[in-house]
Formats: sequence, structure tokens, C-alpha cells
Amino acid sequence: MGYVPLNEGEKKDLDDIKKNNKTFKFKQDNPKRGMDTKCRYENYKSATNYSEFLKLGGKNEDLRNDLQKGYIILDEIDDILSDNNSEHSISSEIVDVEESDIEINNINTETNDIENKDLKDKGEIKKDIKKDIKEKLEGIESIEVLEKILESINILTKEKLKYIDLFCGIGGFHQALSSLGCECNLACDIDKACRDNYELNYGIIPAEDVKKINPDEIEDLDIICGGYPCQAFSNAGKKKCFDDDRGLLFDEIIRIAKVKKPKFMFLENVKHILKVDDGKVIEYVKKKLDDNNYTLQLFNMSPHNYGIPQQRERIYHVCVRKDIYDGKDVELPEINNKEIKLDKYMLKEEDIDSKYFIEGDVLKCLEAWEEMIKIFEVGEKISPVIMINEHYNNHTQEEFNNYADWRKGYITANKPLIEKYKPKWDIWYEKHKEILQKREIYGKLEWQVGKVKENDSIFNYFIQIRQSGIRVKKPHFFPTLVAINQCPIYGKQKRYITPRECANLQSFPKDFKIDPEDNHAYKQFGNSVNCDNVKTVIKATFDHYGIEC
Ligand SMILES: C[S@@+](CC[C@H](N)C(=O)[O-])C[C@H]1O[C@@H](n2cnc3c(N)ncnc32)[C@H](O)[C@@H]1O
Repeated sequence: MGYVPLNEGEKKDLDDIKKNNKTFKFKQDNPKRGMDTKCRYENYKSATNYSEFLKLGGKNEDLRNDLQKGYIILDEIDDILSDNNSEHSISSEIVDVEESDIEINNINTETNDIENKDLKDKGEIKKDIKKDIKEKLEGIESIEVLEKILESINILTKEKLKYIDLFCGIGGFHQALSSLGCECNLACDIDKACRDNYELNYGIIPAEDVKKINPDEIEDLDIICGGYPCQAFSNAGKKKCFDDDRGLLFDEIIRIAKVKKPKFMFLENVKHILKVDDGKVIEYVKKKLDDNNYTLQLFNMSPHNYGIPQQRERIYHVCVRKDIYDGKDVELPEINNKEIKLDKYMLKEEDIDSKYFIEGDVLKCLEAWEEMIKIFEVGEKISPVIMINEHYNNHTQEEFNNYADWRKGYITANKPLIEKYKPKWDIWYEKHKEILQKREIYGKLEWQVGKVKENDSIFNYFIQIRQSGIRVKKPHFFPTLVAINQCPIYGKQKRYITPRECANLQSFPKDFKIDPEDNHAYKQFGNSVNCDNVKTVIKATFDHYGIEC
């Protein structure tokens, strides 16, 4: 089972067509031949290869047309394309196309109805393949294009690589693998909203708990993919690692791999996994994979290196079964640091629902800080984190001495800036203290955009209301989307980014159906992989191992 790429002989034959070493044949007695074709045929019937065909007045459009109708065929085409063994063989598909040129004409010129009876009778899969071939044949303009099409027909008719999508979430891996021609056998997620969304988008109802999957009951597979839960490892979590049961969900992947022995596994986790517990976690992962016959290569990637405006460093694991491993590393395409075109990812302001615009306490608090930003001189350095409530909390020296070191450190470091603008801070704090004290985080400003500039404004940037404070970031790319409620604010428009924009930042397609509950949607996109990054890793692996897709 599995994918069968073109063998060396087939590749050589295709090369020969391109180099004109294969000859044309013409069907002289095709009953469906019309006058135009007849005239053309008379002109170029003595041509035996592509160059002669062109010399005798054959045109690319004629080649397309006549190939489509089966009047002109390439010598030995059936041998070249046949995969010998099944009703889906390419030669039989080509014959179908030849035989059904009336249908093709109807489809192209009249009804556009591919659901006609004849096609229906041939079954769903075959119909899809036929449709694809027809669409592609329509566009043939040169022998080189034909070559590509024939290769893609080859892929269409080969058996697809099968995968299971563990911890599937809303299917970031699914997007990537399916777009590379692979087929999902099984998905699994403990979260009901994720399962519902997965079904809605991919027509597959995921299993609930990975622990309940019995590998003996699932179909054969080529790939396991999974962004194994990271709460136990990530900065956003408690860093408890193996104390947290969820940290061991990685073992479930191994449990299934032991039985199903997939060729590849593509896994993902947060960057922090490399460091947590002094590197013991990643050592554990490596050892488990090694003991179970897999090599491991890790890639640190972030969408912002590939022109996508989200900084999200993640560690992608490429695991190759040792009998397939060729001893060489998979190489990713060079990072292009493409120019980031933010507009491509954002909706138009006029299309944004009013519920996404900031209001109430958040707006009040940002407007308060905005007033202070306007007071600072150009070139002022606002760092480290300003903890303004600490300054006005009237602690005694004794209380200060008992503070934790980090807290004392911040208070001391803030002093020079507070001293410099003391009278203005006092008036400002008096005016806004209610909101600044309402939540501890409102009194903390993490200004991560360098020295104060001329006409600077907090609303020139991306803002995130985090546990650590109000974080202000340069507006080139958004901070990492996370599952907890810290949706970034697009300062310029004083609004949160919408779930659709989150989908864009995670490279989900435009037609992806988003959970209508915003809380679910934000969480799901915060948990998801970036589809584009994951596809880059998988495609590089497929390319490396000669898997054409
Ligand atoms: C980091 S997210 C993976 C998201 C996914 N890669 C995507 O692209 O959307 C981890 C997922 O594991 C799921 N999960 C946690 N425990 C699980 C379990 N015991 N069985 C199955 N899924 C589980 C969570 O619900 C969460 O959706």
C-alpha cells in the first residue's frame, strides 16, 4: 500500500517525450472527427514528433484539442502511464477521456453539468479523477505542460498516504497533509467544540480520548501527526512537566506507533519544550522515539519568517522510521523573510462587527497610558516594565525590604523615570488611579517598541493585555496567538483581531468554517499549528524522500 512514485523507467520515458524521442500517432478513422480536425489532420498527419508537428503548422491548441478528443496520441503512452494493476490505472482513465469526448464538450460548452448519468455510474472516486483530468486537459498549451499533467494524473491514481491526526484540534495538520494529497483515517480530540468543528470542516467525527484508541482496531497508516498537548511544558502553563498527566500524552503517540509503525511522524510543541526541566523532557522524547525505531529531527519555525504576520516559534519534529531513514537531514527551503503584507491578513475596518472594538475598562486604561506617552520626551526609554501602582502604594521601607527580589528590582529600576517626570506622574496618577488600580495588570506597562518617537501613540502598535501587564509591540507581526484570553489588539483601529483574522494568521483557508462562539474560536486558533509552517516541514520531508505531491 502507499504511494508509488514514478519509477526510473517512467521518468526516462517522460523525458523522452519532452526531448521528442517519442513519436506521435494519429487516429485516422475516428468516427467523431469533424471537418476542422480533418483539415488539420491532413496538414500534420506526417508529423512523427512534436517539432515536426509544429513545423507542419500544428499549433499547441490543436495538440490540446486533438489529444482531448483522442485523434492524436503519443506513441507508447499507455505503457508510459500504466500502473498495470487497478481499475484506476491511468491508461484506463485516458481511455475514458477519449471515449467520453461528447460529454466533455457538453460540459465545456453547454450545461457545465458533470453530474450526468454516465459519469455517475462510474463511481465517486473515478468521477473526481475524470473531472480533474478533463479540467487539466483543457489547459494544455505545450508538451511541457502535458508532461506535468501526466505526472499529476499519475499521482491522482496512486493510493494516497494515510494519516491519523492525534490531538487534532481544528485540523492544522489536516490542512497541510490533505493539501499534499494525503488521506485522514482517524482524528482524535478530547474537546467537544474541536470535534464539532473538525466534523464540520472535514466530515470526520474525531474520537474522544487518545487513551482509548486501540491501535489494533484502526486501519493501516503511513503517518501520525500531532501537536501533543503542551500545557505541561509551555510558558503559559505551570512548567510542572511530568507531574502533570497531560505531559505524558506524548506516550500515547508512541503506544500507537509501536503497533502501526507509520513511516513518518510529524509532531509539534512549544519552543520551551527544549529547555523545560533542564532539557529532560526533550531527552525523554528523543529516547522514546529512538527506542521505538524512529529518528528525530527538530525544526524551530515561525510564520513571521515566511511573510505571515505572527511571531510563533514552534518546534516541529520530523520522525522517520529507521528502515526508511536515508542518513541525511531533511532541509527546509531557505527562510526568505518575505516582506510582510499586513493588509492581506486583516479585514476591512468597515466590515468589522462593533463587538470587536475595545471599550469600557480596557479602552479607559489604554487611553490613560496614552496620555502619559504624550508627556514623555522624544527619545525617552520606557523600560523595564513600568509598575506604577507599586510606586504609589506607600509601602514602608520595611515592607519594601520584604518584597521578592524581582519586585524590588523593578521598583528600583523604575525610579529614575518616575523622578524625572514626578509632578506630571502625580497629576496623571491621581486622575486615573481608579482604572489603574482596578486590575493589577492595568498598572503595568511593557513598552517593547523602543524609545519614544515623535507623535508616538500607544495606538500605533499591537497591544496585548497579558498577566504580566499591557504589552505594546511593534506593528509588524502579531504576537503568538494563545489559547488563553489574550487576543491581540490592533491599536490603529482600537479593536481586537477577529477570529477570521486569527484564521488568516494561522494560514487556514478562506473557506474554513469557524466556530461561531468567539471564545471557542480564539482558543482553537491559539492552540492550532500554523498550517503553512507545518506544510513546509512535511513537504520538505516528502521531497527529500521522493514522495511527489
Ligand atoms: C496543542 S492542541 C493541538 C491543536 C491542533 N494541532 C490544531 O492544529 O488545531 C492540543 C489538543 O489536544 C487535545 N487533547 C488534550 N488531551 C487529550 C486527550 N486525552 N485525547 C485527545 N485529545 C486531547 C486538546 O483538546 C487540544 O485540542
